[in-house]
Amino acid sequence: MSNSYNHGGNVFTVARTLGVSPEQMLDFSASINPLGMSPLVRKTLINSLDSLVHYPDISHKELKQSLANHHGLSSTNFTIANGSTELIYNLPAMLSGNKALIISPSFSEYVGALNQCNWQVEHFVLAPESDFSIDIAKLERALAGGVNALFLCNPGNPSGTLYKQSVIESICRLCQSAGTFLVLDEAFMDFCEEASAKQIIVQSDNAVILRSMTKFFGIPGLRLGYAICNDRLAERLDSMGGPWSVNTLALVAGEAALHDAAHNKKTVEYIQQQRKTLIERLDRLSPLKLYPSSANYLLIEIMNGQTSREIKEQLLGHRIMIRDCANFTGLTDRFFRIAVRTSKENTLLIENLGRILK
Ligand SMILES: Cc1ncc(COP(=O)(O)O)c(C=O)c1O
Repeated sequence: MSNSYNHGGNVFTVARTLGVSPEQMLDFSASINPLGMSPLVRKTLINSLDSLVHYPDISHKELKQSLANHHGLSSTNFTIANGSTELIYNLPAMLSGNKALIISPSFSEYVGALNQCNWQVEHFVLAPESDFSIDIAKLERALAGGVNALFLCNPGNPSGTLYKQSVIESICRLCQSAGTFLVLDEAFMDFCEEASAKQIIVQSDNAVILRSMTKFFGIPGLRLGYAICNDRLAERLDSMGGPWSVNTLALVAGEAALHDAAHNKKTVEYIQQQRKTLIERLDRLSPLKLYPSSANYLLIEIMNGQTSREIKEQLLGHRIMIRDCANFTGLTDRFFRIAVRTSKENTLLIENLGRILK
């Protein structure tokens, strides 16, 4: 795994550098459920401590069954992992070929994982001016060059763009006829579940969905994710990596999280409402351009000549972290991303941003 840390959410290191505790930081750089983990997950974790005397259950049977019930699929359509990052790192060794295309800007770990297995990586760069829309004819031409794997994130990160099922279906068909394996990263799809391509992907021999349980369920420190795919691929993915990478507490937390329907509904509604208010208030800060987002984060372009680095550093002075997007392929040093957090936290961010922006 790449140790050069180039994502958001680096709260421990940042707090250490500033000489404060992580609790004193306000982290808008990682896009995690601002309501935190569900009370049922917390209770389950505390009640499960005694089971740590055993090795974890490597069959992941109960969590797979809970996921099957939750998604209306079969338990054989799932592979459980130590965060979806583990799947990203296991995939290149399982796939044949060595040429990958990444629909960018996107999550940097795809490149890290592919580089470790000596894949050649190219980017299919989407333009901010077109709101990161995908030109299907152009993508078809790019795949015709002999691409073994295509990586696409839906909703896009950092753009927040949600691609419709019809677009994903077209991309699936293109991949099928070009002999390209499709890796569809739905890490943030719990925030807009109706758009998931799960029913299409489980029919394919040539595609996998990656899902994260760390963001929506608020447990990034516990690490949990899964793949949705057909049963043959799920079996192969299950055999990748070492045993026990998913610990007992993550397994029981995942099951409890899926069962807390009330907390999950509240999260979706809260994010929708806070995102709307945040957009309205940010829109009033004139030097900012906001990109349409269906996710729990917003991509913002600075239009007055200030750089994302300047804004990031000035906000750090107020113990507020944002994600400087200058190092994303396809973006510039004018872009940054913020998470949608609680009403009070969002107000603090806006007040400080208002003072910093010229
Ligand atoms: C698009 C995307 N995919 C996957 C991940 C990995 O998530 P995790 O390993 O916590 O499940 C992230 C984390 O930020 C992400 O942004």
